[in-house]
Amino acid sequence: MYWGDVFTSPLFFCYLCLLKLYSNGRKMFHKNLKNFPKDFLWGASTSAYQVEGAYNEDGKGLSVQDTKEVIKDTPDFNVSSDHYHHYKEDVALFAEMGFKTYRFSISWVRIFPNGVGEVNPKGIKFYNDLIDELLAHNIEPLITMYHFDLPDALQQKGGWSNRETVDAFVNFAKVLFENFGDKVKYWLTINEQNMMILHGAAIGTVNPGAKNIQKELYQQNHHMMLAQAQTMKLCHKMCPKGKIGPAPNISSIYPATSKPEDVLAAQNFSAIRNWLYLDMAAYGRYNAIAWSYMVEENIEPTIEEGDMEILKGGNPDFIAFNYYCTATAQESRIEDKGAKTSGGDQQISTGELGVFKGAQNENLQKTEFGWEIDPVGFRTTLREIYERYNLPLIVTENGLGAYDKVEEDGTIIDDYRIDYLRKHIEQARLAITDGVELLGYCPWSAIDLISTHQGFKKRYGFIYVNRDEFDLKDLSRIKKKSFFWYKNVIKTNGEEI
Ligand code: BG6
Repeated sequence: MYWGDVFTSPLFFCYLCLLKLYSNGRKMFHKNLKNFPKDFLWGASTSAYQVEGAYNEDGKGLSVQDTKEVIKDTPDFNVSSDHYHHYKEDVALFAEMGFKTYRFSISWVRIFPNGVGEVNPKGIKFYNDLIDELLAHNIEPLITMYHFDLPDALQQKGGWSNRETVDAFVNFAKVLFENFGDKVKYWLTINEQNMMILHGAAIGTVNPGAKNIQKELYQQNHHMMLAQAQTMKLCHKMCPKGKIGPAPNISSIYPATSKPEDVLAAQNFSAIRNWLYLDMAAYGRYNAIAWSYMVEENIEPTIEEGDMEILKGGNPDFIAFNYYCTATAQESRIEDKGAKTSGGDQQISTGELGVFKGAQNENLQKTEFGWEIDPVGFRTTLREIYERYNLPLIVTENGLGAYDKVEEDGTIIDDYRIDYLRKHIEQARLAITDGVELLGYCPWSAIDLISTHQGFKKRYGFIYVNRDEFDLKDLSRIKKKSFFWYKNVIKTNGEEI
């Protein structure tokens, strides 16, 4: 037999198939798992307006979250979890769980009650005290500068549509670096900028009654990008040891079927939901598909001279992102009636006529609040982002909103939350084994807080806060079952989940 015959023989063909199967198998199932890195940043997240309360204390100004119309059957954010007055107790509980990091946001209006102008010393003091308390417990602060709570005074002047807000933000960032830059290593610029553009009505950053504002929104987006790029540059200048990155909400998008048109729809959705934001943050350029979409819809922003240079100057050190679940898209034809829908929220998108149509994924279960649960999609998302940008990643949100119940003996048995987090941590480890550089994992949320639009009843925390939608009760803190579980996860560096 000649070598030529060997290569064309059926036996050799079978060998090739087996080899392929084996290598695919290894890629999906890995024989040996890598460990979480030694200094992995285990922690959890909150945001200022959802957890702090004290909405009008110590010189704080009002943000758009304080002035927006309160959603029916949900509470306002005046007291939230009253973390402002309980922060020492809360940090002690975070330390008891073994947090290596705590991701929280700074309320812009505590520092600048009017967004610009006079600094409020009591605001600086509160965050200095919080940071010191964390450091005293060996917890690394991971600070979001802006989490949905634009100063109302700036909103009155046009908010992000007004280019002056870019300077106001950079000035705010400068004050943060001046005051906390020596103690804080990890900074996040803007939380879920993509969701403020796509679902601003649900999360209260856009007036729900506003019509035809797409063009304005993409101009706002451009301004936020400019603010972000300048802030990242400033961080590197002012805080030599500081590390900074964006924090959008990113999800893999599946095509509903293998029909090529569905694949295109998934790519479209991914471009306008994910890559528009990350391509700009990481590469300083507009994603081509997203840009064409905006031009075709006549909603592209005006780019002033010099803007693209500014955008190129950002250079994040890492990419932080929030992940709750994947999304699924199918083709949407221009002639499809009724496909153009508004509404939805961070994880539920109905679609856009001629671009994509949101679809259900029959393979996935849902939370009590209708969000799909997709741990494997967490791995695909981690892989996609890392492959695309080659920057270290930090997960800044991931979690399950549920109706928790206090049992008669005072315990809270949130096995469903443990199950959700366990499966996601499992996938994070697989992604690390795949080669993804993951620096940290911060589920949402460290402690119960108010959901963006579904009230206090939608709880996410490891720590229960004893209040209801409208009855503030005693706001005492109770450790849920997940508290003890997560404590052990951290103690064993993710070995025991
Ligand atoms: C993210 C936000 O979109 O999801 C958080 O960054 C939010 O602020 C979290 O709370 C969960 O969403 P929701 O709508 O259930 O509060």
